[in-house]
Amino acid sequence: MMDDETFAMYREAGVIAAKVLRRGAEMVKEGVSILEVVEATEAMAVDEGAMLAFPLNVSLNEDAAHDTATPGDERTFSPGDLVKIDLGVHIDGYIADTARTVDLGSNGLLVEASRSALEAAIALVRPGVTTGELGAAVQQEIEQRGYRPVANLTGHGLHRYDLHGPPTIPNIGISGGATLEEGMAFAIEPFATTGSGRVSERSRTEIYQQIAQKPTRLPSARRILELSRKSHGLPFARRWVGGDKVEIGLNTLVRSKILHPFPVLHDVSGSLVSQAEHTMIVTEDGCVVTTR
Ligand code: CO
Repeated sequence: MMDDETFAMYREAGVIAAKVLRRGAEMVKEGVSILEVVEATEAMAVDEGAMLAFPLNVSLNEDAAHDTATPGDERTFSPGDLVKIDLGVHIDGYIADTARTVDLGSNGLLVEASRSALEAAIALVRPGVTTGELGAAVQQEIEQRGYRPVANLTGHGLHRYDLHGPPTIPNIGISGGATLEEGMAFAIEPFATTGSGRVSERSRTEIYQQIAQKPTRLPSARRILELSRKSHGLPFARRWVGGDKVEIGLNTLVRSKILHPFPVLHDVSGSLVSQAEHTMIVTEDGCVVTTR
């Protein structure tokens, strides 16, 4: 069960996320600066009265997730790009996480595969259903269109100021899994790929999250931890850290296991990955999708 006040905040976050993601996606066009889209979309979320739950992810083509603009990013969208935009905002810690894919080429069926998989899974959500059943529905919708689901990326439970708690929602059929209960909040996020169906880490990292509290004397590291504190311990972007010696600060904090890095995740070179994501709350007889 979830109290009305909590539900209202999840809902408010969801309404803002839906509106901002739609407007951000409309800005994605050939020749447009990635940094411009990222900064404008993040600013819109704040203008609407929400806080960011993580940096706006903009991941291209075989990159599935965890990319965002670098500081001073000079990249622009190219003809044919398949662009995943993943937005997370929160109201007082209650998170809405939603993503869509913008197709600057002709990959409509691949985009439809992740979107239909998401809708098929949402249609099953109700108390008593297992996450394994949701994963099976996702897998079936994607495979019947001739693509692969990304097996090592999953949907995730949402808790106050916590982006990746239980339950985990697989993108493939597994036996069992968690049983859904009324009042659970989570995001389902199918990824469909023309590649291998597994993502690996690139060397480039733009997004970090604090995982431990330890004292540090390095000024740049202290600045980074101050940013993390202001972000309520949620993930932040290298781009958000001001001042100099940012690289040294980040590397030191990762080495001392105070920060966890989230490297860009990619499928095989030359493949294409699509993504769709909504956040929902389980009700007595189904669910409310907060991010429509
Ligand atoms: Co998510």
